[in-house]
Amino acid sequence: MVYTPTSKRYDNMIYNRCGRSGLLLPAISLGLWQNFGSVDNFENAEQILCRAFDRGITHFDLANNYGPLPGTAEENFGKILKKNFIGNLRDELVISTKAGYLMWPGPYGDGGSRKYLLSSLDQSLKRMQLDYVDIFYSHRPDADTPVEETMMALDTAVRSGKALYAGISSYNPEQTRVAVKILEKLGTPCLIHQPKYSMFERWVENGLLDVLEETALGCIAFSPLAQGMLTDKYLHGIPENSRASKPEASLKLTDITEERLQQVRSLNEIARQRNQSLAQMAIAWLLKDKRITSVLIGASSVQQLHDNIDSLNHTSFKPDELTLIEKILKN
Ligand SMILES: NC(=O)c1ccc[n+]([C@@H]2O[C@H](COP(=O)([O-])OP(=O)(O)OC[C@H]3O[C@@H](n4cnc5c(N)ncnc54)[C@H](OP(=O)(O)O)[C@@H]3O)[C@@H](O)[C@H]2O)c1
Repeated sequence: MVYTPTSKRYDNMIYNRCGRSGLLLPAISLGLWQNFGSVDNFENAEQILCRAFDRGITHFDLANNYGPLPGTAEENFGKILKKNFIGNLRDELVISTKAGYLMWPGPYGDGGSRKYLLSSLDQSLKRMQLDYVDIFYSHRPDADTPVEETMMALDTAVRSGKALYAGISSYNPEQTRVAVKILEKLGTPCLIHQPKYSMFERWVENGLLDVLEETALGCIAFSPLAQGMLTDKYLHGIPENSRASKPEASLKLTDITEERLQQVRSLNEIARQRNQSLAQMAIAWLLKDKRITSVLIGASSVQQLHDNIDSLNHTSFKPDELTLIEKILKN
């Protein structure tokens, strides 16, 4: 069956302007770090992507190394696009990819060199069967490569037409200022910063968000649910097939401490009083800051996807709710 997206797909999503650019991003974007690789169920991945688009999620975030195995999320995404997003639907999507972490052996498959970034982008385009990505990111700062070189690689990617915009991820406030200035001089303004940000991971509040406001960059917050901890799923043990249960999981069992669970229980109670799930409250809590362009979720099922998008039904907070949340997070 050929997928036909619903004509109502733009009716309920919120679109925010990304910094000072012409680009709008959905308030909720979907990332393919996990659940879309060769070890995962292809039909499930396909369903998640099609349903996401039906609900107005136009932005899908990838990286060269997403899988597992590395590269296979891009391969599967390419297959799903080719099969389902036919005609001019590519023009309704914002697709990003990145390079910066280890991807292939030897001295040229990791870091921030021009050599690595530009050959990696070519590989990503091949895997996704695309002519261009919308956003190409430096996935992380590399202390051993001059930042000028990394930014020149992003500039080249944009000038060559293989990417439409340049982005950076996990750069600290000072590194961000420097990178933004270099890109500005090169004539390719930096579009967006992608930092980790959730109720449990708040480093961006110590300077980065101010820099992004000052420099008019968009901000897309990754791991907004702290990889699943900011949901009710770990309240009664470690469910089978959950991220924390997987071998070599990025969410460690040692992260799910009794202190964390106590916080999750208290937050879950506030969410219940707001008539929303904890996942929904955690997403809404990020979106209350107007400097956040988009919240970049992950999902292993269509049900989780719907649950998370429904956070947009209730994004405002009463002052006493915010005070209580702060108190819980400081404990
Ligand atoms: N720039 C970077 O360095 C970087 C690093 C990491 C991630 N990212 C990006 O950010 C995206 C999101 O990261 P993330 O996957 O860690 O985000 P997340 O939203 O914090 O965690 C997603 C996981 O939480 C669980 N979950 C989601 N919704 C749920 C719900 N409603 N109820 C219960 N459980 C739920 C699922 O885990 P289960 O599998 O247990 O069901 C899901 O896979 C990535 O795909 C990637 O695009 C970027």
